[in-house]
Amino acid sequence: MIALPRIAAVLGTLLLLGGTAAAADATAPTILITGANRGIGLELVRQSAGRGWNVIAAVRKPAEATELKALAAANPRVAIEPLDVTDFAQVDALAAKYKDRPIDVLVNNAGISGTMQDQNFGKHSDWEMYERILRTNTIAPLKIAEAFLPNLLASGQKKLVNISSSEGSIGGMTHPRNYFYRTSKAGLNMEMRNVALSQKGRGLLVANINPGMVDTDMLASLPKSMLRPKEDAVKDILRITDQLDADNTGRFWDYSGKELPW
Ligand SMILES: NC(=O)c1ccc[n+]([C@@H]2O[C@H](COP(=O)([O-])OP(=O)(O)OC[C@H]3O[C@@H](n4cnc5c(N)ncnc54)[C@H](OP(=O)(O)O)[C@@H]3O)[C@@H](O)[C@H]2O)c1
Repeated sequence: MIALPRIAAVLGTLLLLGGTAAAADATAPTILITGANRGIGLELVRQSAGRGWNVIAAVRKPAEATELKALAAANPRVAIEPLDVTDFAQVDALAAKYKDRPIDVLVNNAGISGTMQDQNFGKHSDWEMYERILRTNTIAPLKIAEAFLPNLLASGQKKLVNISSSEGSIGGMTHPRNYFYRTSKAGLNMEMRNVALSQKGRGLLVANINPGMVDTDMLASLPKSMLRPKEDAVKDILRITDQLDADNTGRFWDYSGKELPW
C-alpha cells in the first residue's frame, strides 16, 4: 500500500525534473549515490537498479561517465545528476531540484585517498592535499546529509549510509600510515555518530560501513589477490543497509557485518 502523499510528491518531482527522472517509479524506493561513475559507486548504481529502485546517480563529470550513461540508457529509473561534492552551491542546487522528493537511502560514497606515500609524519609536504581530502571525505558528507535531510525524513526507509574505512578506526590501528585519509574517515565516523544520535528521534537511520579492500581505482597499485571484487563489497553494503534499524543506528560496520572499534 503506497501512501498518497508519497505518490503526489514523486509525481510533482517528475513534472519539476522532466528528462532524466521521468520514469521514476513511485512504488519503488529511491537511492541517491555520490561518486556514482566508477568503482563502488557505479556498482551501487548497478545493484540498486537491479533491485528495481529509482537511482539518482550523482557524478562530478556526467559527460565522461561512459559506463554510467550506458547503464542509464538501459534503465530509465537511473537519473544522472552533476555533483562535485566539494561544491556546496551544487549540493544546494541539487537539493533544491529534488525538493519534496522522498529519498529512502542516501549513500555518501565519493571519496579520495590522496597519494599514500606522501602521508608520513615528518615528510608531509602537500598540505593542500590534506584540505582536499578533508573537504571531500569529511566535510562534504555532512553538508550533503544536511541538504537532503528533508528528503530522507519524508521517505519510507530514512537511511543515511556513509562509506567509511577501517583506516578510520582509531581503536583498530596498529601501524602508523595514511595520516590524511585516516583522519578524514575517523572524522566522518564521529560526525555521523553525532547525526545518528541527534536525528534518532525523527527516525533517521545511519550507518558507517567499511567495504574492505576493494578492487577499484583507489587501490589500483595493490596486487589483485589482496582485493575483493566490488560486486561482493556492494552486496555487503546493501545487506547492512537493509538490516539497519532503530536498534543499531549510528554504528561502524565492517562489511562482514561485525562492528568495528571507533
Ligand atoms: N577501494 C577500497 O578498497 C576502499 C576501502 C575503504 C573505503 N573506500 C571508500 O569507498 C568510497 C569509494 O571508493 P572507490 O574504491 O570506489 O574509489 P574510486 O574508484 O577511486 O572512486 C572514487 C569515486 O569518488 C568520486 N569523487 C572523488 N572526488 C569527488 C568529488 N569532489 N565530487 C564528486 N565525486 C568525487 C570519483 O569521481 P571522479 O571519477 O570524478 O574522480 C569516483 O566516482 C570512497 O569513499 C573510499 O574512501 C574504498
